[in-house]
Amino acid sequence: MNETAQTTLMDTFKLFESYLPDFARTGLFSPGAQRYTGTARALYRPVAMVTHRTAETADTVSLSLMPPSGYPAFRAGQHIDVAVEIRGVRHVRQYSLTGNSVSPSAANGGFAAAPLQITVKRQSEGLISNYLHDHAFVGNRLEISAPKGDFVVTNTNAATYVFCSAGSGITPVYAMARELLASGKNADIYFYHAARSAESVIFRAELEHLAEKHENFYPIFFLSKAEGAEKRRLNFKTLAPLMGKDLAAETTEIFLCGPGDFVQDLQDGFQAAKFNALHSEFYTLPTAAVTAGTVNFLKSGAEIVATGNLLEAAEGAGIKAKHGCRRGICHECKVHKKSGTVKNILTGAETHGDENIQLCISQAVGKVEVEL
Ligand code: FES
Repeated sequence: MNETAQTTLMDTFKLFESYLPDFARTGLFSPGAQRYTGTARALYRPVAMVTHRTAETADTVSLSLMPPSGYPAFRAGQHIDVAVEIRGVRHVRQYSLTGNSVSPSAANGGFAAAPLQITVKRQSEGLISNYLHDHAFVGNRLEISAPKGDFVVTNTNAATYVFCSAGSGITPVYAMARELLASGKNADIYFYHAARSAESVIFRAELEHLAEKHENFYPIFFLSKAEGAEKRRLNFKTLAPLMGKDLAAETTEIFLCGPGDFVQDLQDGFQAAKFNALHSEFYTLPTAAVTAGTVNFLKSGAEIVATGNLLEAAEGAGIKAKHGCRRGICHECKVHKKSGTVKNILTGAETHGDENIQLCISQAVGKVEVEL
């Protein structure tokens, strides 16, 4: 193709993109195209425009994103995938939706008609978070996904809600607590959050404002780098005395979110105390006991001894396994297990035989056959 033809083609595409940006960037996956093609929702890749940027703390920003028309409604606690291209490679990360939720039943025809919000904490090794901090400014466009996830409040009639979070793990639970308060329920809501210092508590001003407005809302901060009595860590041992003996396990819903070992400690503590309505979201995998099993990757013909999770085992064997979050949230690493037993690293549950498993949170127990 000569240069003039290329220039004309590019000019035509830019004109097309200026009128129909979503369709131009996401082609067959745009909502418009789906009306004709019926493309599966899993492949829906809308493009949202950054409309606002707010500094929450020194290292955290909230981005308001205007999705295209027809974008689905969502529940507090759900997340979206955000895809960015860095040096020619597409990377995807999950971010909780921290703006006001629009429940499918309340929304206009099941569609969200307002901007979404995600909140991004800069991480020292965080490729995507650093990219968003440095490049996502008002007017930029980001490829996102439909809302996903079942880390949401399903029982709205509990007597008490307990939210525990650490660091950026505050994002989904903040959205859930705010949604509960906005619903007018008078259940007690205890909101325990761990951060380094008062200044690094994301949404601190909003939480304090909510506490002033709602007498059933109790935000309590655990600040690991504070001075004097304020200095304390959040774990089950420090939390248990604060909760009191009156807290009834049968009528309490508990939500935990943060780094793996933080969530695991609280989950174990609450389980031992017989609180069964437990909901956890892990931002990293907890430290798992090393157990050796044998995994046979049937399609690749590799059989190896695996001591960690099966995603790492596959990668160690030179097998390219589809994956996303590496922490049990996105389900991108789901494969079929033909036989054998695996242990879920997040819950400790063992499952057997023919089933689909998430490689990143599964450990082989004995011999396992996986179709990969
Ligand atoms: S990679 Fe996301 S669930 Fe396994």
